[in-house]
Amino acid sequence: MPRPRTFKTDKVHVGDCIDLMNAWPEDRVDLVFADPPYNIGFHYDEYDDNRPGDEYVQWTEDWINGCVRLLKPTGSLYVLIGDEYAAETRMHLKRLEQEQKLVFRNWIVWHYTFGQNCKSKFNRSHAHLFYCVGSAATGKWKASDPPFAFNRQDIAVPSARQTTYADRRANPKGKLPDDTWYLRPQEVADDGEVSYFGPDEDTWYLSRLCGTFKERQGWHPCQLPEALLERIVKLSSHEGDVVFDPFTGSGTTLAVAARLGRHWAGTELSADYAKRATQRIKHVQKTGQTHTTTLSDKGIERGKPKKKAEPHRSTKDQVGPAVFK
Ligand SMILES: C[S@@+](CC[C@H](N)C(=O)[O-])C[C@H]1O[C@@H](n2cnc3c(N)ncnc32)[C@H](O)[C@@H]1O
Repeated sequence: MPRPRTFKTDKVHVGDCIDLMNAWPEDRVDLVFADPPYNIGFHYDEYDDNRPGDEYVQWTEDWINGCVRLLKPTGSLYVLIGDEYAAETRMHLKRLEQEQKLVFRNWIVWHYTFGQNCKSKFNRSHAHLFYCVGSAATGKWKASDPPFAFNRQDIAVPSARQTTYADRRANPKGKLPDDTWYLRPQEVADDGEVSYFGPDEDTWYLSRLCGTFKERQGWHPCQLPEALLERIVKLSSHEGDVVFDPFTGSGTTLAVAARLGRHWAGTELSADYAKRATQRIKHVQKTGQTHTTTLSDKGIERGKPKKKAEPHRSTKDQVGPAVFK
């Protein structure tokens, strides 16, 4: 039998996530966050996001199996997915639960604004986030002492009992957020900056990252907001744990993990994305700060069209994902 390859952390591994995950020893990571391509025709530099449905579903099952293999029994797994393949993905997670390989905890809906404008249907403004934990949770356990990281105090928010009703029964430490997370445009300031998680909010206020936002790196088509990852990393891992992202992209998960004192590791098909993501993560490690950009970095002048379109908006070779028509 071939010897398993060494799993190195604090590194973005270039290559196919399934091949790499299956070559590494099992039970290595404490938290997996996966944001795969959604098979909706986005324009990545290496990956073709337009595959026959059956092939995409089989591929989804294969990479999820790889993640579960790599996850410690005490770990947590989050999968972010669009409408198109949410049902198939959920069904596979259910099968894995039946095989006692993980336990499904929440179907979270991330409700965002600044969704893509559609011409002949309602604009999409949500994505699905499946939250599961490892096989250690298949047995009996107490809610006060779960067999997986659940740092409730790190993400608790003030409850309405505290902020609105001054109810003496309110837990002074606040409450856990709900399973729908959303952002309204009024939370976005004039300069395009977003205020996340104000002191009296018990809902997840989160936008997609618009091109003008300082956090947007400008070279990857689907960068997630750091705030989304911050809550997940804080809740489901401890300092010194290993956080893994099979679809590193612009490096959001791993940059947040590094900023919060976790070890990080990822895989990425594109050598170019991996290189730039690593630069972003190293910046965070060196400075402790999120890597931000200016409008001019991205070729944007206020009130004028962008000089250079972001990769997926380049319409020379495609009209844009059909899903947004
Ligand atoms: C939706 S993006 C991830 C974006 C990321 N969450 C972020 O915030 O930047 C998906 C990424 O997966 C990469 N990818 C696609 N297939 C892959 C594979 N088989 N192995 C590793 N990476 C892959 C793509 O190149 C793309 O960068």
